[in-house]
Amino acid sequence: MTTPLLSLDEATIKFGGLTAVNKVSFDIERGDLFGLIGPNGAGKTTCFNLITGVYKPTSGKILFKGSEIGGTPPNRIAEKGICRTFQNIRLFPSLSVVENVMVGAFLRHKTNIFSAFLYLPGAIRETEQFRAQAMALLEVVDLADVALARAADLPYGKQRRLEIARAMATQPDLLLLDEPAAGMNPQEKEELHLVVRRIRDEFQKTVLLIEHDMRFVMGLCEKIVVLDHGEEIAAGPPEAIRNDPKVIEAYLGEAV
Ligand SMILES: Nc1ncnc2c1ncn2[C@@H]1O[C@H](COP(=O)(O)OP(=O)(O)OP(=O)(O)O)[C@@H](O)[C@H]1O
Ligand SMILES: [Mg+2]
Repeated sequence: MTTPLLSLDEATIKFGGLTAVNKVSFDIERGDLFGLIGPNGAGKTTCFNLITGVYKPTSGKILFKGSEIGGTPPNRIAEKGICRTFQNIRLFPSLSVVENVMVGAFLRHKTNIFSAFLYLPGAIRETEQFRAQAMALLEVVDLADVALARAADLPYGKQRRLEIARAMATQPDLLLLDEPAAGMNPQEKEELHLVVRRIRDEFQKTVLLIEHDMRFVMGLCEKIVVLDHGEEIAAGPPEAIRNDPKVIEAYLGEAV
């Protein structure tokens, strides 16, 4: 048996009296397109915060490539190969689209981003390399034609894809996407679906995504874990999840 890329083993975090994530366990294998779903406040983003070191688990383990990472600082976890996007878009609004992606590469290579943007000697060649790589990633997310636009001027759906390109620039093994389709129109969702598939199929990335849109998540992910009130209530392939009475109850009133 191969070691899973990521394992949560009874991961738990308490905030005062609230157990936001309670003994959650699941394994993500390399190449998985994995969905994490659940109603509002279920503990999904908190799971991401545990995996990325924003919070230290109160108990339980988080293993990445077989090593415990629970409580490791976020920058160290990023270096180990986990990168995320956020529920609320976090871009550098006044930088250009391509520069936003280059920021990801600088983080990876520890180049002094200020010397690079000031075009100090020595940083120029590396900067040009990063620019070329960033342009290649913009092709993947279909934003190459707006590379020089200000990030803030992009429509919402494109900003979300830009965040994904920036995360990809850190060359992660595991990409965490927190509600990447939120607020998108149907056409933007379709484009996003293709982008995420390409990232997995062509770049061999492993993807864990949080999503509220059931159609989107069921059509994209091959394995799904469902949280409700911090507890794992179901896990399995989309067909099983869709028909699980516990899931239907948790989403009562919502179309699953
Ligand atoms: N730093 C914190 N301090 C206290 N409570 C927190 C903290 N972070 C999260 N929580 C609580 O933990 C619970 C889970 O929150 P979380 O953001 O993980 O939910 P979610 O599943 O991502 O929901 P949504 O779909 O609305 O984004 C909520 O009750 C939230 O208020
Ligand atoms: Mg959330």
